[in-house]
Amino acid sequence: MEKHQLIQRFSADQLQQRVRELADEIRTDYRNRQLVVIGILKGAFIFLADLIRHLNIPSEVDFIRLASYGSLTESSGSIRVTKDIELPIAGKHVLVVEDIVDSGITMAWLLDHLRGKNPESVKTCVCIDKCERREKSVAADYIGFRVTQGFLVGYGLDWSEQYRYLPDIYEVKFL
Ligand code: IMP
Ligand code: MG
Repeated sequence: MEKHQLIQRFSADQLQQRVRELADEIRTDYRNRQLVVIGILKGAFIFLADLIRHLNIPSEVDFIRLASYGSLTESSGSIRVTKDIELPIAGKHVLVVEDIVDSGITMAWLLDHLRGKNPESVKTCVCIDKCERREKSVAADYIGFRVTQGFLVGYGLDWSEQYRYLPDIYEVKFL
């Protein structure tokens, strides 16, 4: 691994506070609706686990795993499903939960994929919206934090499978 240093960007307390606020918003918006929460593996697993506990409404949960061919820190645009959702979503309200949106290529592709399954609605909730390298215009409906740039790790986010376990979010500074 290249020599690097981790600089804290968002503390566990900040993350928990923001997740609680997002959950409050989402709970209000989905009152009396049949909600299916879909997490994108692997990065979203911790954010989703926190979000649904704060949400505390009777939602169903499923996961999808996508593979994109590219370098370790950049998306390539070529995406395929390696594990699809298993719950039926036709006629249901879907909330996609993602760790971070960068180029937007993954999210744009996934939204097309899910809309092909005829849900009643699809919205997106992202922990981090990183806007500088956006290529596909995807505007997330619920956003934890906005950053312009930087490679982030922790709270589910990885760098080459490292650092997902960290309770805070850090920026990787290459030395
Ligand atoms: P996009 O298709 O470029 O929007 O990339 C989205 C995916 O790239 C995310 O689901 C992450 O898995 C990964 N990614 C993008 N930026 C970061 C980052 O700063 N840290 C960790 N993973 C990232
Ligand atoms: Mg991801």
